[in-house]
Amino acid sequence: METFVTFAQLAEEIAREAGEMLTAKRPARPEVLDTKSSPTDVVTALDRASEELIRTRIRAVRPDDAILGEEGGSTGDGRVRWIVDPIDGTVNFLYGLPEWAVSIAVEVDGEVVAGAVNVVPRGEVFTAARGEGAWLAGERLRCNTGVPLDRALIATGFGYAAGRRRVQAEVLAEVLPAVRDIRRGGSAASDLCSVAAGRVDGYYERGPKAWDYSAGGLVAVEAGARIGGLNGRPHGPGLTICAAPGLFEELHDLLAPLDPERDA
Ligand code: IPD
Repeated sequence: METFVTFAQLAEEIAREAGEMLTAKRPARPEVLDTKSSPTDVVTALDRASEELIRTRIRAVRPDDAILGEEGGSTGDGRVRWIVDPIDGTVNFLYGLPEWAVSIAVEVDGEVVAGAVNVVPRGEVFTAARGEGAWLAGERLRCNTGVPLDRALIATGFGYAAGRRRVQAEVLAEVLPAVRDIRRGGSAASDLCSVAAGRVDGYYERGPKAWDYSAGGLVAVEAGARIGGLNGRPHGPGLTICAAPGLFEELHDLLAPLDPERDA
């Protein structure tokens, strides 16, 4: 019988194995194999190979579970669902920038209960189990608290569609003067782990997908952060905001009147 902790251990094991494969096989200049939502939304052969490895490992130990993967879509319909981003930060992977991750979350009855985010180039694997905490290299993580909005370092990201980016830039133009500074790392999973580790104070993004935020979101929450959407709605592809309580509300109240979902 799996517990949330054993699910997290399994997710970590598989995310480490995918990371080792990607490190071993990444050519000096990976080629774009395909594009998805826009010409800049790329897929490499190793995105697919990583997801295949992860799916094979999950099926070997948990054959009845459902899996949602960024590249392979939804399979199965068990109470337990694995949410997989085989490479979060594919553009960084393509360019050789050190900010991409393998992200694996486990959901039970629709609630994320465990997650692992392997930020492969940094050799850092973040893990979390619901109610049990968030961890990096044996250290329990705690997000920054008591940071006012005007001192907050805020991570964000952008979608791939030009219309969405135009709105994201307009929103950013109002956020940037109100905060300490902005970081655009290029991997939402890693950004959320950075909230957990206190490397940024908060994160917001319009449009991230379940595979981008599920594991990292649990890591952040288990480190004391709050995660949510606009006006009390749950976080998700609408808007995802994540920060310690207090800063969360300040960031929310800055964003809400800017109508960041208006490209929908
Ligand atoms: C992307 C990254 C990026 C975020 C985008 C995501 P991908 O994921 O997480 O930071 O801004 O919204 O789509 O495409 O590299 O897996």
